[in-house]
Amino acid sequence: MNPQFSPKETTGGSVVLVAAMGLNRVIGDGGKIPWKIPGEQTLFRQLTEGKVVLMGRKTMEAIGNPLPKRTNVIMTRQKGYTRPGCLIVNRFEEAIAMARTFGTDLIVAGGAEIYSLAMPAAKIIHLSIIQREFPGDAFFPEISAAEFFQKSAELVSGSIPYIYTVYERCPGTCIFQIRNSTPTGDI
Ligand SMILES: NC(=O)c1ccc[n+]([C@@H]2O[C@H](COP(=O)([O-])OP(=O)(O)OC[C@H]3O[C@@H](n4cnc5c(N)ncnc54)[C@H](OP(=O)(O)O)[C@@H]3O)[C@@H](O)[C@H]2O)c1
Repeated sequence: MNPQFSPKETTGGSVVLVAAMGLNRVIGDGGKIPWKIPGEQTLFRQLTEGKVVLMGRKTMEAIGNPLPKRTNVIMTRQKGYTRPGCLIVNRFEEAIAMARTFGTDLIVAGGAEIYSLAMPAAKIIHLSIIQREFPGDAFFPEISAAEFFQKSAELVSGSIPYIYTVYERCPGTCIFQIRNSTPTGDI
């Protein structure tokens, strides 16, 4: 483990977004992540291993294989979609229910469409802000200052420095509603 890291523990039972973006909010370009920062990938692994990890169908197909040591869940509107080693959901609520069944946080690992969909339910956002602008076509959604506060920010130096930032939802600001249920950002 890179000693520079001190990834913040998730609280359990929450919707947690994990992402990396450039200074211009770019997260992807042509289906790919436009950088490779080894330590940042280590952080991603530490935050996601053992958890239920939700990805959009496009992100999963770009990665190719399910992430090891995680319950991989793909979100798609396609009925009957299958992919080896992955569970499939058509609705975000199903992913939340799945995480509840497995007793872990629901980690939302992109891409842009799925981050936007999950943001209203997010309790915590782990965001690595890479200190460069990148060309791209997929962007991380704005984080509302009325709904989230910055809990910590840690500069990680290297060939491409980044700031590992953790945001937490302000109490009482969750707008996500599940019919016939009572979630408030916690699951
Ligand atoms: N930097 C990072 O941290 C990071 C992390 C992950 C991904 N990325 C990048 O993000 C980009 C991909 O993002 P993206 O927004 O194009 O695609 P995406 O979010 O990965 O996947 C989009 C797909 O998700 C499904 N979907 C979206 N909304 C849905 C809903 N309401 N209900 C059911 N299914 C729904 C649809 O699948 P169907 O078309 O099958 O219906 C849709 O085409 C790539 O460039 C990738 O490299 C970056």
